[in-house]
Amino acid sequence: MAPLLRLLAGAAALLLAASPAMAGDHVEVGVNWGSQLSHPLLPTSVVKMLKANGISRVKLFDADPWPVGALLDSGIEVMLGIPNDMLEMMNSYGNAKDWVSENVTAYGDKLKLKYVAVGNEPFLKAYNGSFMRTTFPALKNIQKALNEAGVGDKVKAVVPLNADVYVSPDDKPSSGSFRPDINDLMTDMVKFLHDHGAPFVVNIYPFLSLYQSDDFPFEFAFFDGGRNIQDKGGISYSNVFDANYDTLVNALEKAGVPNLKVIVGEAGWPTDGNKNANLKLARRFYDGLLEKLSKNEGTPVRPGKMEVYLFGLFDEDMKSIAPGNFERHWGIFTYDGKPKFPIDLTGQRHDKLLSPVPDVEYLPHQWCVFDDGAKDKSKLPGNIQYACASGDCTALGYGCSCNGLDEKSNISYAFNMYFQMQDQDVRACDFDGLAKISDKNASTRGCLFPIQVLSAGGRAAPGLGWAAALLAVAVMLFV
Ligand SMILES: *[C@@H]1O[C@H](CO)[C@@H](O)[C@H](O)[C@H]1NC(C)=O
Ligand SMILES: *[C@@H]1O[C@H](CO)[C@@H](O)[C@H](O)[C@H]1NC(C)=O
Ligand SMILES: *[C@@H]1O[C@H](CO)[C@@H](O)[C@H](O)[C@H]1NC(C)=O
Ligand SMILES: *[C@@H]1O[C@H](CO)[C@@H](O)[C@H](O)[C@H]1NC(C)=O
Repeated sequence: MAPLLRLLAGAAALLLAASPAMAGDHVEVGVNWGSQLSHPLLPTSVVKMLKANGISRVKLFDADPWPVGALLDSGIEVMLGIPNDMLEMMNSYGNAKDWVSENVTAYGDKLKLKYVAVGNEPFLKAYNGSFMRTTFPALKNIQKALNEAGVGDKVKAVVPLNADVYVSPDDKPSSGSFRPDINDLMTDMVKFLHDHGAPFVVNIYPFLSLYQSDDFPFEFAFFDGGRNIQDKGGISYSNVFDANYDTLVNALEKAGVPNLKVIVGEAGWPTDGNKNANLKLARRFYDGLLEKLSKNEGTPVRPGKMEVYLFGLFDEDMKSIAPGNFERHWGIFTYDGKPKFPIDLTGQRHDKLLSPVPDVEYLPHQWCVFDDGAKDKSKLPGNIQYACASGDCTALGYGCSCNGLDEKSNISYAFNMYFQMQDQDVRACDFDGLAKISDKNASTRGCLFPIQVLSAGGRAAPGLGWAAALLAVAVMLFV
């Protein structure tokens, strides 16, 4: 860009920055819209919320026609996903062509598609190499099918990867390189991305750095931390997000593609399920991240604008908690579409809540609670275990929002979560006669006993779905 143009662009950015966020303002940051909820919100309402908040980019984890349909003609830019369990299928070019025809071409110009994410963190160490063989061929087939369909210029196939695909032996970004066991594969793949004008998509989680190591310097997880590490050439890092990003940039350079564009596919902070997962720290992280993005300062090695998708929109109560109890609490919105804390997507730190999802309908105002008067309490442990295994007790642990409950409320919490998840079916509030339905709000300070939302139209059967029916039968048989 010529200096004068750059100056003008800078002035325009300043002008934009000076005006508070208003509906319709272009907010550069994207969001991940996951779908692992027992009670998903109506996609048309979610899209209304996105527009009201000026969010102009979303990343999905599949190509479910339900949310995709709501995004048609919305003007919102979309990244669709192909789940890991479909990668093998996409190794056949015919299947890749069918995928593109059904999930891309069929929508024509109505869908503002920018990327197709082929797999999701397929090289995660936890997958034991299960997708090592199938990911790259799937990527090639999808890009080829996009090209053949005539949309390859504007739609790029990418592979969102976890930051564990690269390493740095001495924790310095300048020493970054791809993980030795996948170095050859990564090198071929990034060259392919480069040749096709596609970016590298990486997920970066300072929260996980903190979670995974007790020795991790706490302040370094944030952007205002007053903690620095020094790298070669007098470069200083004040936060792990930048250090992590530049570790990747250095790895790309070693792989021969120093200029490959990088997109952050996921960045965020959970609000429950761990001692470091709460509203205060989440807000601190997002405030710092969004302010940084708004200034287009980039990182020491890659100054300038950054493309980032926040993770994620909603709490997802069906997510696996194998990585940790915090997994179900990544939303910047609650399960029912309410903003959890003030967040200013324009990075100006305005103390304002985002607009909620409109038109959310709830189940009746009733809770399932422990029946103190129950005579036989011998079956309590088994019932609590069952409720927690099939429901969600991730807010009960040490340092979490419902950790302070007394024993009775603790039991009620477990019972209620299960009951709500089962659409308040009376059979899901029995627990061997240990539970009863109550119309008194059982919530306490800081600990919400939720009422579930009405299962959004046309998705789950009204009342008890078949899965819930099976579970209810299982309760009767086993507890
Ligand atoms: C299109 O995407 C949906 C949702 O991810 C998937 O179930 C379907 O199999 C895809 N279509 C084809 C032909 O692969
Ligand atoms: C990976 O291997 C570990 C240990 O052998 C095992 O517990 C785990 O289930 C495996 N995961 C997958 C996704 O295969
Ligand atoms: C409440 O439940 C949690 C999770 O099951 C458990 O760790 C905690 O000890 C319980 N607290 C009380 C007071 O029973
Ligand atoms: C129950 O009480 C909590 C905490 O006071 C509140 O946030 C929640 O909205 C209430 N629920 C209902 C359904 O009134």
